[in-house]
Amino acid sequence: MKKFKYPLIYPRIYKSDKHKGIQVIKSGQITMSKITKNFEKNFSKYVGSKYSVMVNSGSSANLLAVTASCNPLRKKIFKRDQEALIPGICWSTSLWPLVLNGLKPVFVDVETATLNMNIEDLKKKITKKTKVIFCVHVLGNSTNMDEIKKIAKKKNLIVIEDTCESLGSSFKKKKLGTFGDFGTYSFYYSHQISSGEGGMVVCNSKEDHEILLALRAHGWSRDGYKHEVYKKKYPKLDERFIFTNMGFNLRPLDIQAAIANNQLKQIHTFKRNRTYNRNKIISYYNKNFKNKNFLNFVNNSNHVDCNWFGLPILINKKYKYKKRKIIKEIERLGIETRPIISGNFLNQPAIKLFKLNKNNYKLKKSQEVDDCGFFIGINTKKSSEKILKFVATNIGKAFLKVCK
Ligand SMILES: Cc1ncc(COP(=O)(O)O)c(C=O)c1O
Repeated sequence: MKKFKYPLIYPRIYKSDKHKGIQVIKSGQITMSKITKNFEKNFSKYVGSKYSVMVNSGSSANLLAVTASCNPLRKKIFKRDQEALIPGICWSTSLWPLVLNGLKPVFVDVETATLNMNIEDLKKKITKKTKVIFCVHVLGNSTNMDEIKKIAKKKNLIVIEDTCESLGSSFKKKKLGTFGDFGTYSFYYSHQISSGEGGMVVCNSKEDHEILLALRAHGWSRDGYKHEVYKKKYPKLDERFIFTNMGFNLRPLDIQAAIANNQLKQIHTFKRNRTYNRNKIISYYNKNFKNKNFLNFVNNSNHVDCNWFGLPILINKKYKYKKRKIIKEIERLGIETRPIISGNFLNQPAIKLFKLNKNNYKLKKSQEVDDCGFFIGINTKKSSEKILKFVATNIGKAFLKVCK
């Protein structure tokens, strides 16, 4: 694999994180236990939700949240063949839990300025069958959550927020992931906090919490609130093995919880460093190349305080046909890049395989993000002036070479 001078991700597990992980290994209790519970409590406090349920990845968090949203123990549920609105710029495991649970995904276009769902397009795509709005907060940014809440209330919709890329961002001072029925997060290596792999689902109702706990672990009752009730109701069953719901095994290890908990304590510092690094690259670039009109940096949406995941860049449309060459040159100069999530997801072969776009809908702005967009990493530690100048200068140089 090519080594980049400025990679997408710097090493993310620090000395004190390793120490916390090793302590768990030494204790002999490595599977999910007290440490996970403690982290869940701290996470709830940080994001401002009543309940948090840790899982082994952000993808599992999405699977758990969507599957819980149609559980018979819930009052408000979606049914098979109803529709879920999801942005064209999404991750694969934002989409598949909807499909696996029998929902028909309806793709909503995004705004190039924010990379997030376009509310007008979302309104247009609501039908009698719509039951879920599945938001994806892209790279730390968000759509207008007041509008989403308003629409959801009026139409009686379930809202799930895939916040896997946006832990620590807020809309009007309220943390993303806490506006809907469920919010999901990822602690994969590149994310705002990391435990290597890991994820979280948050919710505000005790009923939902009970469902999430059962679904996370085999459908078992013993983690939940009603275990005693079930024991009494089913006296012939071995009280240790009562299965009250459907289930998966999406449990994390206590090792992951210990590491993620240690990182959560530092999230304010990480956010400050990420913001500093991002702003410096932008200001160095603008000083030397702004008048060339090669590109736009994506900024925070209105009312959003971003904990940026990366630094998203949109090439000026007139150079979009040169994107491959520009990217190749940026990477040749030592700066690693990647698409904005996975570009316009409608272009992916899996969409064809599962016939998810039979009407051949086009998403104009999602395609523009695909054609013109890419992003570079931003370090969680404060980067040196030298490297930040290197990044800004070489992005400018790459454009000068290819677009002259
Ligand atoms: C928007 C979004 N949702 C879900 C995920 C899945 O998270 P994980 O990699 O922890 O499974 C990702 C991964 O980066 C993501 O970007």
